Amino acid sequence: MTRPADEPAAIGAAPVTRPADEPADGPAPRAAVIGAGRMGHGIALEAARAGFQVAVYDSQPGRADAAIAEAEHDAADLVAAGVIASTDVPAVMARLAPAPQLERAAEGAQVVFEAVAEDLAIKRGVFARLDRAAPPNALLLSNTSSIPVSDIAAACQRPQRVALAHWILPPHLIPVVEVAPGRRTSAAAIQAVRALLERMGKWPVVLQRELPGYLINRLQFALLREAMELVGQGVASAEEIDLAVRGSIARRMPALGLFRQADLAGLDVYRQIFHYLAPDLSRAARPPAALRQAVDAGHTGAAAGQGFHAWTEEQRAAYTRRRSAELIRQLRADQTDQPPSTPSGSASASIPSP
Ligand SMILES: NC(=O)c1ccc[n+]([C@@H]2O[C@H](COP(=O)([O-])OP(=O)(O)OC[C@H]3O[C@@H](n4cnc5c(N)ncnc54)[C@H](O)[C@@H]3O)[C@@H](O)[C@H]2O)c1
Repeated sequence: MTRPADEPAAIGAAPVTRPADEPADGPAPRAAVIGAGRMGHGIALEAARAGFQVAVYDSQPGRADAAIAEAEHDAADLVAAGVIASTDVPAVMARLAPAPQLERAAEGAQVVFEAVAEDLAIKRGVFARLDRAAPPNALLLSNTSSIPVSDIAAACQRPQRVALAHWILPPHLIPVVEVAPGRRTSAAAIQAVRALLERMGKWPVVLQRELPGYLINRLQFALLREAMELVGQGVASAEEIDLAVRGSIARRMPALGLFRQADLAGLDVYRQIFHYLAPDLSRAARPPAALRQAVDAGHTGAAAGQGFHAWTEEQRAAYTRRRSAELIRQLRADQTDQPPSTPSGSASASIPSP
């Protein structure tokens, strides 16, 4: 997984062997993943691929073992994407182990990835324990989607080493990890998180401060707010809007992102469009009516059989496969489709300390 070469920092592929600065027979660096649900198994796999010995802990009995089995499925995706060789999978999987207690998982860890439920009280409880159990210079990273990292770090004696590292589902197939400091996070810790993620072959996007929704959810929900308002107003159906997005703006985004697209289109044109359009765009300060109505009716999405679309179990499985296939296709393209100017840096995997 390499960062696009037209971005300022060029990053080598994720190492799948022991970090270069570790003696071949020395102990592997340790990492912990706390919370092994939808996100935890993919994060654990990525840490193991980077050469960490990863302890996986979940408060639900048996969940850590199940997550390690799920990580093996994730590894098959990466083999399909050409990111790792099938012959490397056993060595990667051998670095994943369930931990019976949070404290045991954190013991000796240089980095802890937290991915427990999105609940401030739960996260605070977890971080208070991690703060005591992990080595004093370990990085403690939260995967929160919405909670200010400062509120989580308030549970810790050493909040300077607590930061956001927000992975995107599915974390083994999505390259970006969003990073943000809390109010008391040290600059050195943020630098260490960035370096660590680069060495893991991810694309860290580092924000200057915490803010609601951080970056990626702000962008995603800005678009969703407008789309859901238009459905609610009967301007177009969810089906038509999904088709419009997939067949237009989503086609350009993988190549350009937002701002290169705007530059290519011409900012003068965009200013004119904003002039006419901005007053009419949704600025609603609460969830869109179409969303509220769907949820109130029990139409909570694919798992419930009805969301904005109707779903059968087969369709749910088929669309999930389709998403993975597309993400794998893009990862494969990342491996091969580098512009000629790509600097060929290979990742070293020494472990930074905050
Ligand atoms: N699902 C997503 O798309 C997504 C994307 C990005 C970030 N996140 C964030 O990642 C975090 C986890 O989300 P998820 O979707 O994996 O949730 P999930 O419910 O699938 O998994 C959470 C896991 O945490 C465990 N857990 C709860 N309390 C615990 C505790 N005290 N100690 C140890 N384990 C505990 C649960 O047993 C469960 O297995 C949340 O903060 C969420 O906002 C989720």
